[in-house]
Amino acid sequence: MTNVLIATQKSFAEKAVSQIVSTLESADYEYSFLENYSSKSELLDAVKTADAMIVRSDIVDEEVLAAAADLKIIVRAGSGYDNVNIEAAKAKGVVVMNTPGQNSNAVAELAVGLALYGLRNMFSGTSGGELRGRTIGLHGYGYVARNVHRIVHGFGMKSAVYTRYSKSQAVSEGLLVTGSLEELYAMSDVVSIHVPARGEHIASVSFDVLKHLKNNAIVVNTARKEVVNEEDLINFMRFRPDVKYMADVQPDRVDEFTKHFKGRFFFTPKKMGAQTIEANINAGVAAAEQIVSFFQNGDKTFQVNK
Ligand code: 3PG
Repeated sequence: MTNVLIATQKSFAEKAVSQIVSTLESADYEYSFLENYSSKSELLDAVKTADAMIVRSDIVDEEVLAAAADLKIIVRAGSGYDNVNIEAAKAKGVVVMNTPGQNSNAVAELAVGLALYGLRNMFSGTSGGELRGRTIGLHGYGYVARNVHRIVHGFGMKSAVYTRYSKSQAVSEGLLVTGSLEELYAMSDVVSIHVPARGEHIASVSFDVLKHLKNNAIVVNTARKEVVNEEDLINFMRFRPDVKYMADVQPDRVDEFTKHFKGRFFFTPKKMGAQTIEANINAGVAAAEQIVSFFQNGDKTFQVNK
């Protein structure tokens, strides 16, 4: 019988869990949950008999893959799969998938919330600013950025974007597409980062890009800490005391932000972007359905390690 392990250090909402269970039960699969675990050894133990795995930001490295003798498929219930060693999985013949778009509205809503919070000076009682009439610069134009564009339209913001791969879509959706990242940063009151932690995007938010920011700009990062060159960001914020950084991903050097940038930064204590009931249901159920479709029909539509 097919055995599915749902390993989520950050557990899904109860409603999502019950819908995942009913999807797996309808297919007559066995399943087990490893939720809120604190040590890797628990995961190494749980994965031993799994044919399939659903994870979130849980680390699936070579050691985990080596312990999973029967594993055929891993589905990352979410978008970014930088937590899975996709090459090691490929070498073992394990298919890795994500569930693109399923949690993107939740992340986009948080990005807009962070922009608003920053613009209102963290609700500190001092006079802030309004989103209306300001320009948001989308660094990347994937599912989350598209949702941000849709939402901020209602606030009366103008959207601009720098994208290499989705230019025609962005133009057709009414965004101003800039010719460079520097140009985007120079024209935006709020920059919202939406690129994955891969390839050319790693450390792409560098001093050389940041130095183009307008006065009083806010940088919102609901993507990954790796896309920002942290040392450059710290140096830049020391040099430009008007700029704020709002992130759903804690940087490595939180202490330096606390010491030097009082009132100019905010970090969620834990990655929260996709932590809504709706996103948990969408991504969790999609993951379970993709596993069923893979075993029943050989469907590899969302494979990311071909
Ligand atoms: C994603 O890549 O889908 C988001 O960062 C959500 O991650 P999470 O499932 O760990 O909340």
